[in-house]
Amino acid sequence: MLCVVGARPNFMKIAPIMAAFAAHRPAIPACIVHTGQHYDAAMNQQYLDALGIGSPEINLEVGSATHAVQTAEIMRKFEPVVDAENPSAVLVVGDVNSTIGCALVAAKKAVPVVHVEAGLRSFDRTMPEEINRVLTDQLADLLFTTERDALQNLVREGIDPAKVHFVGNVMIDTLHRNLGRAVAPEVTLKHASASGVLGTSHGFAALTLHRPSNVDDRRVLEPLLKTIAEIGGRLPVVFPVHPRTRDRIEKFGLEHMLDGKRIVALPPAGYLEMLGLMRSARFVLTDSGGIQEETTALGVPCITLRHNTERPITAEEGTNTVVGQDADRILSVVSEVLKTGGKKGRIPDLWDGRASVRIADVLHRWLKDPAVRALT
Ligand code: UD1
Repeated sequence: MLCVVGARPNFMKIAPIMAAFAAHRPAIPACIVHTGQHYDAAMNQQYLDALGIGSPEINLEVGSATHAVQTAEIMRKFEPVVDAENPSAVLVVGDVNSTIGCALVAAKKAVPVVHVEAGLRSFDRTMPEEINRVLTDQLADLLFTTERDALQNLVREGIDPAKVHFVGNVMIDTLHRNLGRAVAPEVTLKHASASGVLGTSHGFAALTLHRPSNVDDRRVLEPLLKTIAEIGGRLPVVFPVHPRTRDRIEKFGLEHMLDGKRIVALPPAGYLEMLGLMRSARFVLTDSGGIQEETTALGVPCITLRHNTERPITAEEGTNTVVGQDADRILSVVSEVLKTGGKKGRIPDLWDGRASVRIADVLHRWLKDPAVRALT
């Protein structure tokens, strides 16, 4: 089986799956294909190393481009790999361009497609990931979901429920596995600590921001950073900056807003560094999908700077509050969280560290099914 990764959030999803395939008896033969969508050491190799993935056997080195060019390049370079490897299935995770690009190649070659993290919907088609989610699920032959309600989304789109398995969240498998190795914030902030970030009795907040809807338009990004600086007046905000966001901040001439005291900018944090920051933060501000889930698993309040979430369970059962981009709303939720400690939340069903073992069990049975074998 070929297992595809491309962008940063894919790495924490594939790591426990590969481990579960290797530990399964009999082992499930699988090989990682990296599309090279993310390529910077800070976005890529440091994650592969920290998660024990190493260097994938096959790297398509597609790099950055517009959505159309990047997706086309992924498809163009993945097709000969499928021809050469003749896999029993292609497994894709999440919702990035590598997910849809490789699923489409496999489906057109009648190679069964397995989608891990199926059925999540923001119902917001301006989000590139939403398009990737809907289309990948249409192409998939076997779909693994992280939350129960995802099944309804899939059934509404005409997908046969027999193909869908609720197994839990592989990202939380990785979190469980690595929490003991999380890097203390003192270490991650060793330079910033000189300016007193960890010296305040208020603790700190952690921030991540990279969605095009938040960072690509100066009229959105500038007021957001102003609001965050206001929060920084109450407690320091530690901000590992995604390359897309760094690029936009420079392009719009907003570097002065990252003043090192109220907002402490860092290079993209490694997985273990980010775990340490999230675990110790008073709260986390984010527009990431994965971080909404990780904070729920850690019991740390999360304030999501988006108008919607494709992961509603994090708001319904977990610690997440979806606030959008309005300054007053963000500041009032921050005040509430500082006053009350925020939502306590509970751990969603099957977010127990064993999702990838369930996936391996289902896949093993599925691959033996004559109907699936007949496809390839
Ligand atoms: C991608 C995913 C998004 C995911 C995010 C995590 C899609 C549609 N989006 O968005 O769902 O949450 O990854 O990071 O697949 N860049 C670098 N170095 C890198 C990678 C990117 O400098 O290693 C810069 C480039 O300027 C590039 C920009 O970041 O143009 C955006 O990268 P891209 O892969 O297109 O999308 P992300 O915004 O990272």
